[in-house]
This record gives sequence, C-alpha cells and structure tokens, in this order.
Amino acid sequence: MSNTPSSAIESVLVENRVFEPSARAQQGARVAGMAAYQALCQEAQADYEGFWARLAREALVWDKPFTQTLNATQAPFYRWFEDGQLNASANCLDRHMGTEVETKTAIIFESDDGQVTRVTYRELLERVAQFANALKAMGVQKGDRVVVYMPMTIEGVVAMQACARIGATHSVVFGGFSAKALQERIIDAGAVAVITANYQMRGGKELPLKGIVDDAIALGGCDTLRQVLVFQRTATPVNMQAGRDVWLHDALQGQSTQCPAEVVDAEHPLFILYTSGSTGKPKGVQHSTAGYLLWTKLTMQWTFDIRADDIFWCTADIGWITGHSYVAYGPLAAGATQIIFEGVPTYPDASRFWQMIERHGCTVFYTAPTAIRSLIKMAETNDAVHPKHSNLSTLRILGSVGEPINPEAWMWYHEHVGGQRCPIVDTFWQTETGGHMITPLPGATPLVPGSCTLPLPGIAAAIVDETGNDMPNGAGGMLVIKKPWPSMIRNIWGDPERFKKSYFPAEMGGTIYLAGDGAVRSADRGYFRITGRIDDVLNVSGHRLGTMEIESALVAKTDLVAEAAVVGRPDDTTGEAIVAFVVLKRALPSGQEGKQLATELRNWVAKEIGPIAKPKEIRFGENLPKTRSGKIMRRLLRAIAKGEAITQDVSTLENPAILEQLANTH
Ligand code: WTA
Repeated sequence: MSNTPSSAIESVLVENRVFEPSARAQQGARVAGMAAYQALCQEAQADYEGFWARLAREALVWDKPFTQTLNATQAPFYRWFEDGQLNASANCLDRHMGTEVETKTAIIFESDDGQVTRVTYRELLERVAQFANALKAMGVQKGDRVVVYMPMTIEGVVAMQACARIGATHSVVFGGFSAKALQERIIDAGAVAVITANYQMRGGKELPLKGIVDDAIALGGCDTLRQVLVFQRTATPVNMQAGRDVWLHDALQGQSTQCPAEVVDAEHPLFILYTSGSTGKPKGVQHSTAGYLLWTKLTMQWTFDIRADDIFWCTADIGWITGHSYVAYGPLAAGATQIIFEGVPTYPDASRFWQMIERHGCTVFYTAPTAIRSLIKMAETNDAVHPKHSNLSTLRILGSVGEPINPEAWMWYHEHVGGQRCPIVDTFWQTETGGHMITPLPGATPLVPGSCTLPLPGIAAAIVDETGNDMPNGAGGMLVIKKPWPSMIRNIWGDPERFKKSYFPAEMGGTIYLAGDGAVRSADRGYFRITGRIDDVLNVSGHRLGTMEIESALVAKTDLVAEAAVVGRPDDTTGEAIVAFVVLKRALPSGQEGKQLATELRNWVAKEIGPIAKPKEIRFGENLPKTRSGKIMRRLLRAIAKGEAITQDVSTLENPAILEQLANTH
C-alpha cells in the first residue's frame, strides 16, 4: 500500500474516443440503456438488502428460502442469505430439467487436436450425478476438500460440479503449477482426494498431470490425502499405486446416473481457490455457495446479456477464477450453451480462436488482453492467421479480463474481431470478488477504450486515499468496495487474521474491502480506469504472482542464492514481465557463466512454482539496494528494471554504488 507506483497515478487516461451502444446492442438487452442501469443502481441505493434479496429470490432455486439477507454482526466476516439452503449443482443442472434447456447443448468441447464433442444439459446432469456417486463411494463426504488438478475438458467441469453436488469443497489447481505448488495446496486445504488426469494435451504436446501428483505426494506432508482419481485422457500409461489411485472409468463403473443433490447452507464453502498475495504463501480464497452463484448467474445476464440462442466462449482455464465463474458455474446457472477449449490459441496456428469462433458460431467471446496482444503480433507478421480470414459475423459481444487492456489492443479487438459492431466489456474483478465488479453493460454503457467504465448495480466501488477519504475524479488512489456484496471472499482458508489484514485495513475502519489496485476516475464521465496493483503482486499474462513467492523460490536454491528481489517491468505482450535481482553465494559471474546460471535459476523457479513464474530476466549483483535499516528499495529496482535513470534521492541508501552495478549487469 505504501509503495503506490507514481506512474500509476500520473498516467491519467486521455482518451476521447467514445463508442455509444448501437441500437442493435440495445435491442432486447437485459439492461437496455443507461436509464435502466441507473434504475438498478438506485434500487440498490434505496434499499440495499432488499435489492439483493429480490435478486437472490428470482435467480436461485432454494430448498429452504432465506429470511435474513445480510448478517454484518461479525464484519468483515459477512454472511449472506444465511438461513437459506440450496445446492449449486442443482441450480446449474437440475433446475433446467423439464424446461427447453434440458435438451439444449450445454457444452461444445473442442480438444487440442480438434475433435468436437457435445453434451446436452440432461447428459451433463447424468455425468455429474454419476461422478458424484463415484466420489461418495470413495468415501468423500460433505465438507471434505477435494483438489482438482485437471485439463480443460468436460471432465474437469464435471468434477467441480460433482463436488458441489455432494457438498464437498473443491480446490482447483491450475495444470501448469508444479509438484511443490500442488503439494502446498493439498496440505493447506487438507484435501482427502485429488482428481486428476494421466496427461493433458496442449499445443500438440502430451504433458504429465498424474506424474506431478505423484511427485507432490512424494514431497511429503499430504497426511489427509487418501485417494487419487485419475481420468484417462490419453493412451499413455502412468503408474497407479494400489490402494490409493483409482481410474475414473473404473470408479464410474456401475454407478447410477442419479444422485440427489446434497442440500447445503447458503454460506457453505463451495470452493477454495489459491491466489497470490503480496506476502507469504498463496492464500486460499474461500467462496460461499449462494452469494457466489447468484453473482455468476447475474453477471452472465447483465455483463454478457446472455440469451437463449447465444454460444458463449470464455477462454479461461478452470484453474483460475475466470474459469470457475464463467465456465464451471455462470454459464450453466444461466442455461447457456458454451464452448470449452482444451488447447492453446497458437496451435496448430495463431488463427485457432478465429477458426473456432467461425466453426461453432460463437456469439459472446471472452478472453484476456495478453491473448489479444500476442495474436495481434502474430497476425502482423503472418497475414494467414489474421482474423479477417475467418467469418466472425456471429459475434455480438466481446469481453476482456485479467489485466488492463491498452487502448491500441482494444481498438484492434474492436475492429478486427468485433467488426466494429460488438461492444467490448472490459471486466474488472478479482479472485476475491467472485464475479465482475466494474464493467460496461453491452446495451447500456458508452465505451471508452482502456476503461472498465462503471461499477455494476449494487457494487459500491470508490477510490480513496490511505485513510479512506474519497478522491475527486481525475485524482488517482486506491480502489475499494465500500459495502459487502454477496459473492465476496468469505475468508482465507484457515487464516482469518490474514483475511482481515489483507483486505480490510484498520486505517479505513476495518470493514471496507481493499482491492489492492490503483485506479482513477475520468473527470468527465467518472469512468474507472485500473492503473495496476499497488502491492507486491505482479500480473504476468493475466496471471497473478506474488513477488515474495518468486523470491522465496529463488532463495530456496540454497547452494547458489544468498538473496533475491523480484519486481515487475512493463511488457508489450505479457503486461508485466518478471525481473529478478539475485545476489549469489559466490563471486559475481560474467559472460557465459552468468547466462548459464540465469538459465539454471529460471528453470529452478519453473520447477518450484510453475513455468508461468519464470523470470524473464535475471540480474546478478554483489548486493541489493538497501536503506540503512536493511529494507530493500524495490522502487529503485523497478526503475533499474525499466532501464530508467535514477533521479530519486539515494542518499539514504546504505550502498548507493550498487545501483550502477545492477543497471549494468545484464
Ligand atoms: C487485474 C482475475 C484491469 C487487477 C479476474 C486485479 C484487471 C487482478 C482487470 C485480479 C481489468 C483483472 N482491468 N485490471 N479488466 N481484471 N485485473 O485474481 O490487478 O487473477 O487485482 O482475477 O487482475 O486477478 P485475479
């Protein structure tokens, strides 16, 4: 909080282009026009709890209706719809039975190698029920935690829904995380089972999953773990440990395709999802059942204006929050047809997304700025993969998520993918918020490239200074949400103190949610623009990484590394790139030796955390710039990483000469 990067505040967006919603986008939209948006905002303003109660009654199917909307007596441990009961899977599947959605396609799955499989809502329900029965037969019970380490497949979504069906709390770990990262999550969650696949297919390559689970368990400490359920994705064999490992096809054998959904309390933890913070180990963000589900469904309807005949495609992996809210839950709760894609956007070539949009008639497309930026680069160097060669006329809404989208990328997306007719919803939100917070509505909000525009109705977003005072438009500050909302984080799994400290600063009264991002509102429209994290969290290709996690990984290489400091540097494609400053336990290396050591350390970090955490650059120095009290001056390191001249006063540094050395050793 203390190190708000000044660049974040200086760069107030000067952007005069405005795109009003077309008549076509407004026609039949769930929120049509700014007056409709404002009416919803006013409803929330006039009767905050009444607003949420109405929406929760309309959107969800309750086994036991709630009578109390918000319980704030234990704030910031807010409880929503507390005495109500329901089941998330029943709200995504069973509720559609007997309606026209029952026989509708729920999922169009396209595998890495282009095979297409479709399942209807009825079939999906049967698969989820059968999977749920298999979990029960393995002894998994309501309240147990289950780690899901799966590829992007129908089975991945089925596994999550099956957990929800029996009231087990899932914790999905992205398939790119290392054995060590997986082991830490299994231990922290106290998981009784891991659901995985033998291999995953990405970009024509077969990559191990089960083998990594074995390695994770071999690291030790996974004392609560009893079983590993293995989906056979490819024909390649893997070791199966008798008594512990079970093939999914064997576990499903003979199980009924009917399984009554376990009724749980509204606040029952639906899932834990680990994400990076500025300090310590990744935190297990705990979400509720009712409030979370309510918001994923509503935002499908408001932000994506989802309609009966839409073909929705969110490209996020189920290992991230976007893949939870807008693949595994939201689209199903809303009864939509969605595309699920196993592979990567560049295989067999960089036109894969465009070809898939054409092939499946995608109407609402939701992806990350990093993907857009890298596809722009490829289209510029290889015309054959340009979106103009695909028929994208079915598209009606585009979405962006995960990091700020720069106006140039926004314009390209608008022009070359959206054919200048599709509104772009630039959705700002976080793992902790459960669903969208600040975003345009396609049939209502005039768009400004690079701005996530206005908060959704009921979301009390504001920009404040360190003590919680509102900042005027045009002045940057910290993004906060002043009132609790149903899909907010409930706790950090097993660490309520850290929950309070991380998100509800005492200086602001202890009940206001601090997002950890800097933001500024435009002087004219009051539109929000997110300027980036104000803590030590990096956003690399839309993935959150804590600088401390990477530093810990580096210093864990005890034979080599004495000290390390990690900072982010702006990057044209990945948004931010990781730069690590490393002090070795040996003399400063030069030339070839330095290169070799850098490669060794980069690979080491990939092994400790996962390839997404690999530093782009490693710089060696004899020391790090420190104050006399021994604090590392990251601000200076950030400037050095960017190649900027140091203009700040460095007289308080213990060792000012080190700056020059670090600036020149790469
Ligand atoms: C960033 C991803 C600007 C932000 C859903 C936030 C964004 C972090 C946007 C959360 C956006 C996400 N514009 N920045 N539209 N969306 N961010 O938890 O820094 O993986 O705090 O959730 O991504 O990342 P997370």
